[in-house]
Amino acid sequence: MPNWLKDAVFYEIYPQSFKDTNCDGIGDINGIIEKLDYVRDLGCNALWINPLFDSPFKDAGYDVRDYKKVAPRYGTNADLYRLFGEAHKKGIHVLLDLVPGHTSEEHPWFLESKKAEKNEYTDRYIWTNCWFYGISGHPYIGGEAERDGCYMLNFFKCQPALNYGFLNRTADWQSAPDAPECIATREALKDIMRFWLDHGCDGFRVDMADSLVKEDDENKSATGAIWKNIREMLDKDYPEAAIVSEWCNPQQALKSGFHADFYLDHHGNGYNTLLRDNETPGGDHSFLKKDGNGDIMRFLIDYLPKYDGTKDDGYISFITCNHDTPRARLTLGYDELKIAWALFLTLPGVPFIYYGDEIGMRYLDIPTKEGGYTRTGTRTPMQWDNSRNHGFSDASSEILYLPQDPAEDAPTVEDQEKDPSSLLNVTKELIALRHKYTDLQADGSFDVIYAEKKQFPFVYRRGNLLLAINPSENKASAALTEEAYILPNDQKATKLTPVYSIGEFKQEANTLTLKGQSFVVFSLEA
Ligand code: NOJ
Repeated sequence: MPNWLKDAVFYEIYPQSFKDTNCDGIGDINGIIEKLDYVRDLGCNALWINPLFDSPFKDAGYDVRDYKKVAPRYGTNADLYRLFGEAHKKGIHVLLDLVPGHTSEEHPWFLESKKAEKNEYTDRYIWTNCWFYGISGHPYIGGEAERDGCYMLNFFKCQPALNYGFLNRTADWQSAPDAPECIATREALKDIMRFWLDHGCDGFRVDMADSLVKEDDENKSATGAIWKNIREMLDKDYPEAAIVSEWCNPQQALKSGFHADFYLDHHGNGYNTLLRDNETPGGDHSFLKKDGNGDIMRFLIDYLPKYDGTKDDGYISFITCNHDTPRARLTLGYDELKIAWALFLTLPGVPFIYYGDEIGMRYLDIPTKEGGYTRTGTRTPMQWDNSRNHGFSDASSEILYLPQDPAEDAPTVEDQEKDPSSLLNVTKELIALRHKYTDLQADGSFDVIYAEKKQFPFVYRRGNLLLAINPSENKASAALTEEAYILPNDQKATKLTPVYSIGEFKQEANTLTLKGQSFVVFSLEA
């Protein structure tokens, strides 16, 4: 486990929208370099940058045309190498986005693979052996190649699936996962990883990490075997490199060698019940919504088995949002967001803050761009200040990659820096708190102290710290049982000293009362 992950707080940057330094209306690498002090001062010590590689951008860069070349619109490879160096000087690690399951249909491997005559790349992708036979249960395309066959898609039409084989094979055109052509795909992936690691990157967020071997078993053991092999390479040659998976199944992902796995807004996930409760008939009952009448148990029932089952293998990553997810500001106001970030930044694992969430940027209802569809509204340019284009770009507003929040009260970093109680300043305090107390970091223990169905507050312990959160708009109390006072070394705490709070609280004998929308952290002392 790379040591730096233990105290990592990530900041996700969507490069299109962070900072434009050459006035073409789209963000660039030099813009990220310019804003590294901002990231550091926020308290974030790691970055995940969405794909920066050469691409036709039919899926915002998740359709890679050249894995080893920076897209000219963002700069050059030399700029990216400089970003690694500058980030490191400020104590910031950098993860790139690795897309292992598919390429762009314009990738040179695919152009070769489409050819009728056999060549090195014929089996780099998944093809049937006849133009007339498709692939049941999977999306595919026929009629577009000189080659006699249909090819499988991994996501959009522009993203043919790379060939890592089929575990359960039903047709003779399907390769076994250990066939030479599948090993060649895996080795090509390792070569890409080595290329960027050798140039100074610190690891990868891995796109659709579970999508490699098709017709895998329910444990995804064949896909897992590929990642274990890759992890062996990392442990041997790049022990400080980290890999974080988009798998959303920590039991599988962490056993397969990932250091952390995202807890995403997938159907049925406990994470949704906290702030994106869009599946409950009868309204939004998110726990973090002040009038949601939420229920922390809906989260814990899903999260606790995941946490208990994986805490020795790696980390679960909570996100404030990501480039695929509606921004939390869609349904929560600033005060609710403060409490929400308080929870995410004090849970175990490695947290990720999506750019702009620290100031509560809005989700905008805007037309799709680069295959974003409903995701586009979450990807708008960062709002730095009150100057032209909110300081994102000096270009004319008409050519901005995406429009900005037109509201009079659009949040900006400049405004929030001036207000001590702003979401930005509270987020900074919360991150600083996490850095200050090892107990709050990735490895610190996590115990539920008070959690009752449809009741507030939620009280939990992280090592020698006792935390209570009341996101509802009403006052709420909890009785602190004996258990709350037993320290990890089995001594009994006699003193509770508040070390941080948002809103108001009162502790009398064994009763803890929090006003609506409050949060408190106590240090437990023997
Ligand atoms: C997941 C990425 O987060 C998303 O943005 C992308 O469209 C798909 N994978 C396909 O690569």
